[in-house]
Amino acid sequence: MLTNKTVVLGVTGSIAAYKAADIASKLVQAGAEVRVVMTESATEFVSPLTFRSLTNQPVVTGMFELASEFSLEHVALAEAADVVVIAPATANIIAKLAVGLADDMLSATVLATEAPVIIAPAMNVNMFQNSVTQDNLAKLKARGFTIVDPAYGRLASGKVGLGRLAEVEKIIGTIKQVLGRSGDLAARRIVVTAGGTQEAIDPVRYVGNRSSGKMGYAVAEAARDRGAKVTLITAPSALSEPVGIDVVHITSAVEMKEAVTRACAQADALIMTAAVADYQPKSTARQKIKKEAAGAGLTLELVKTPDILAEVKGDFLRVGFAAETEDHVANARQKLAKKQLDLIAANDVTAPDSGFTVDTNRVTLISRDGKVEELPLMLKREVADKILDRVVGMLAEKGGR
Ligand code: CTP
Repeated sequence: MLTNKTVVLGVTGSIAAYKAADIASKLVQAGAEVRVVMTESATEFVSPLTFRSLTNQPVVTGMFELASEFSLEHVALAEAADVVVIAPATANIIAKLAVGLADDMLSATVLATEAPVIIAPAMNVNMFQNSVTQDNLAKLKARGFTIVDPAYGRLASGKVGLGRLAEVEKIIGTIKQVLGRSGDLAARRIVVTAGGTQEAIDPVRYVGNRSSGKMGYAVAEAARDRGAKVTLITAPSALSEPVGIDVVHITSAVEMKEAVTRACAQADALIMTAAVADYQPKSTARQKIKKEAAGAGLTLELVKTPDILAEVKGDFLRVGFAAETEDHVANARQKLAKKQLDLIAANDVTAPDSGFTVDTNRVTLISRDGKVEELPLMLKREVADKILDRVVGMLAEKGGR
């Protein structure tokens, strides 16, 4: 969430300016106070009224207009900002910022601010690839600006190439990541696993489960937004890759164990939300199993997969999940003890509002010292933050790095 955060959104004169309306709207939905500054050419593409209506705040368009509460005082806007985001950023504004010009409200604000600045370029492919633009971007990067690289695709000119404004989700994710830098998990390394592993029967079939990955992705994003360096080890999932997170794709339990072992060499905490298959086919057929050869019935011989939480050793906190269909607290307690966990989140996956595929979850947290905390129904993202609150506390108790 971006509650209590002031985002100054700079909009410049690119055809992608209309996408800034979506960015403004999503930021407001996330709880941010959004102050839009438009260059004159941006107002040719989108009306300031659009942003005013979306943000419920005055929109700044010129240096000297009296209607703006920030008029003649660009410093106030620069100081109010927790982050300045320019999306879309034209080659022109990028050039101005690179040399430190301040002849419009946006460039003046950027020059005057101490807040982090994010630039999301959008322009014609030749303008973007021109070495002048590339040099200017390199200068800004060296000065600590964050650049959200444009995407490849169809451009307004009809050409196909690099220059499309990055996806709105990517820009929002970058804003959250930048704002979270000084959060309570800053400099911590958190490894999160997500999704349900798939154990191959043959090249086209597998043994799997219903996990969507939503809980794990929510934990990874929440940790990122609190400043952690996050590695997300994910089984196949329909969810899109989160920004600012090191994502490792795996398929089977064995592959997940390898990836977890590697990532945990330097981790402060491992949060295993993945639904790891407990069994895998004893052998995987090299070719697709044919009905004719298998006959009327097919028996699969399954062998145990490695228990990742129990087997990956090291000096990091371990958080497990227990997806249960009955006696969830008692079963989770047993798992906590058996796998030597610091914390376990138990949930009843048979409830329609918790468990697989939905966006909400109802979990009970049980810690090593036996404390049981039953949480009400919440968004998975909120559950993630509750778990991370505990992780922050446990890491502080543990001391060290
Ligand atoms: N887990 C794991 N490796 C496995 C199986 C599970 O690391 N091979 C982790 C899960 O990611 C979860 C915790 O262990 O954090 C508990 O998973 P769960 O499937 O509920 O427990 P199991 O030990 O598999 O017990 P059971 O399936 O019999 O309930």
